[in-house]
Amino acid sequence: MKKDVVILAIESSCDETAAAVVVNGREVLSNIISSQIDIHKKFGGVVPEVASRKHIEVIGAVVQGALDEAKLSFDDIDAIGVTYGPGLVGALLVGLQYAKGLAYALNKPLIGVNHIEGHVSANFIQHKELEPPFVCLIVSGGNSNIVYMKDYGEFEILGQTRDDAAGEAYDKIARALGLGYPGGPKIDKLAKEGNPDAIKFPRANFHDNDILDFSFSGLKSAVLNYLNGKAMKNEEINKADVAASFQKAVIDFLVDNSIKACKLKKVDKIAIAGGVAANSSLRDNLFKEGEKNGIKVLFPELILCTDNAAMIGSAAYYEFVKGRVASLDINAVPNLKLGERRI
Ligand code: KG4
Repeated sequence: MKKDVVILAIESSCDETAAAVVVNGREVLSNIISSQIDIHKKFGGVVPEVASRKHIEVIGAVVQGALDEAKLSFDDIDAIGVTYGPGLVGALLVGLQYAKGLAYALNKPLIGVNHIEGHVSANFIQHKELEPPFVCLIVSGGNSNIVYMKDYGEFEILGQTRDDAAGEAYDKIARALGLGYPGGPKIDKLAKEGNPDAIKFPRANFHDNDILDFSFSGLKSAVLNYLNGKAMKNEEINKADVAASFQKAVIDFLVDNSIKACKLKKVDKIAIAGGVAANSSLRDNLFKEGEKNGIKVLFPELILCTDNAAMIGSAAYYEFVKGRVASLDINAVPNLKLGERRI
């Protein structure tokens, strides 16, 4: 019988310090997340230096917590998986150095994981039957991509954002509306009280209907101009209508391109990944359009949408079985691209 592969995974690319124990890429024995959101809230966004220091303070306890919850010791681990990019360089280095130290001291293989590929892998944990090929919409604070996942760890980029990521647009508009950080969940909630057709915000048009790229900066400027115009005329703003109309523009764009990508690749399943996958309107609309077009729509549960180490453990497993072990001089790569390997 094939032996189980037990991976201890570490994630520290932004403002969550996380560790998890994952078996065979699919079964999560523990998933510990120490979030710094309350600290960064005061500043309206993540302060990189503060994030790195906080990671250093808690990483030892978070890793030990993941082992304790899994009821395992370091001896039971087959490999250590760690995010090495993309992300904030100082934050990445904390997790990476910790993982390197463990790999060296325990004499266990080290697996470098691309954070974005980790988000995609969250779907393997949630949907045990899911196997490539499929289309994946990846929407987070730093990325917006539509990819065709040919095989484990093999991606073809079908579309990407030309400027802001979807989550970034949510955060910027939330700040302009005075809703605070992180903006996505706040706009999602407020939009439920507003009219999505109240204001017609523009959507980027690439002329060629086959282009599956996104652009959110024009939309962002349109919302900011609307808010400034109202303020200059001393007119009252219905924040819920602004949130709902902005959200409709973003979600329509994401949903339309997702369905087009499935048709282009002739696949009947799409998985969604990243923090914006938590959005209720994205979920509702994709399910609706998926049903209309005979496409199965798969979302991870909320805890697996935002940054966590279980998804890194899953991605690390598929790297490990392909023999992609990192050397101990692996460095953090803050701008690592999807599908790119620097190990
Ligand atoms: O994937 P993630 O946790 O971190 C990155 O790797 O970027 O994504 C965070 C992003 C933030 O921009 C946040 O505002 C957005 O995901 N987000 C949402 C929702 N929940 C989180 N955006 C829209 N609706 C939500 N419910």
